[in-house]
Amino acid sequence: MDERIARDPAAIRAMFAEVAPRYDVLNRMLSLRQDVRWRRLLVAALGQAPAGRVLDLATGTGDVALAIPGRVVTGADFCLDMLVIARRKQGRPGRRVTWAAADALALPFPSGCFAGVVIAFGVRNFADLAAGFGEISRVLVAGGILGVLELHRPERRTVAAVSRLWNRLVVTPVGRLVSHDGSAYAYLPASVDTFPGRARLAELLRAQGYGVLASRDLSGGIAALTVARWEGR
Ligand SMILES: C[S@@+](CC[C@H](N)C(=O)[O-])C[C@H]1O[C@@H](n2cnc3c(N)ncnc32)[C@H](O)[C@@H]1O
Repeated sequence: MDERIARDPAAIRAMFAEVAPRYDVLNRMLSLRQDVRWRRLLVAALGQAPAGRVLDLATGTGDVALAIPGRVVTGADFCLDMLVIARRKQGRPGRRVTWAAADALALPFPSGCFAGVVIAFGVRNFADLAAGFGEISRVLVAGGILGVLELHRPERRTVAAVSRLWNRLVVTPVGRLVSHDGSAYAYLPASVDTFPGRARLAELLRAQGYGVLASRDLSGGIAALTVARWEGR
């Protein structure tokens, strides 16, 4: 991973704690509601997972965890302020989500206990991406599915130019204004710029023993969905 920006876990946790109360509204605004469609595709990828429990890692305010039908779901995050909001949204009956405070790089779950792991906009923040995928594989059953939804730097030049402009003129200033956090919405585009592209991500997963089932651009490559199967050791 490009190390031009620090991915310091304590700083990242503090940053998400700061923006937590306005995280959902900013997500919808800054992605023009594309995030809702992207998350739906991520959840659909779990259709390829065997029967069993599912982990939504870096669950944040729980939008993915709460949208997973017909499974026993754990939503885990290392930022308690985000989890508090996730828990509040759980009001409706029939939703079986357990919330857990957990660091993705040292998960407090036994090996092989999940049939699927999904992670939306989370891996980009990991201090060590390979270690994160390694830890995820530890908690997956052999044949379990990993779905990764992430923002990437678009490869197409026109999309990249529009995206840069959008970040400069909208994401950073609006994010700063609404969240009252000067750094978080400057970190966002910087973390995308320095994160590996979709193809590199797939390579990394293969190198770790996953079989990549799908790797597709979303919205012109602003985001991508990667679906992999853990082949087992
Ligand atoms: C951009 S938010 C995404 C939240 C949610 N998945 C969504 O779809 O909106 C990133 C989340 O990842 C969490 N996170 C980042 N690094 C983490 C780590 N090492 N372990 C657990 N959670 C982490 C942050 O606390 C934050 O809630």
